[in-house]
Amino acid sequence: MKKAKFITFEGPDGSGKTTVSKAVTERLQKEGYLVRYTREPGGSEIAEQIRDVILDPKNTKMDARTEALLYAASRRQHLVEIIMPALENGTNVISDRFIDSSLAYQGCGRQIGIEEVFSINQFAIEHHMPDKTVYLDIDAETGLSRIQGRSFLDRLDQESIDFHERVFNGYQEVLKKYEDRIIIVNANRPVEEVIEEAYQVVKGILDE
Ligand code: TMP
Repeated sequence: MKKAKFITFEGPDGSGKTTVSKAVTERLQKEGYLVRYTREPGGSEIAEQIRDVILDPKNTKMDARTEALLYAASRRQHLVEIIMPALENGTNVISDRFIDSSLAYQGCGRQIGIEEVFSINQFAIEHHMPDKTVYLDIDAETGLSRIQGRSFLDRLDQESIDFHERVFNGYQEVLKKYEDRIIIVNANRPVEEVIEEAYQVVKGILDE
């Protein structure tokens, strides 16, 4: 039996990541691939409770390091409860966000630093990095205009334009740091085209 793969989708808010990763998962499942879709922050009952605390717009007093630790705690629980058992069982996992989000958002958006955020995440995930990551590349203006059109904005969506610009730049650093793991898909085009390319990429990884 082939080793199950752990694949993550990453991208700034407004990149279409959730729509694309769900559509890719459904298409692969229909073709008979064993794939489990999950997301962060959240993905398990305890991790979803932590998500609610992190994203609650009322929690304006949350300290940046507290936020980074909560994302790492939620990731740990999600990994142990959902991701690892699926992989051990031979099921491929597609996760909408994982560690790279913390590197970009907390490391750069909150200006804690990528290495500092990586080190607390290493405690949380030990050696369990994704096998491959699909990055949905969108320009900052398009991403931001899509978020502004949403009816509900969570605590992070409500952050300043400067914060979101630091996140975009943070992802560029993450792409350089992990160029062997991350595959870039241009998301500045109609969603159907983005889904098609992402599907081909993920199928290629599962067929390896
Ligand atoms: P979502 O919109 O993809 O559900 O993610 C919720 C928000 O959480 C989004 O603004 C990105 C942010 N986030 C972080 O800041 N750090 C993380 O580690 C993760 C997983 C998400």
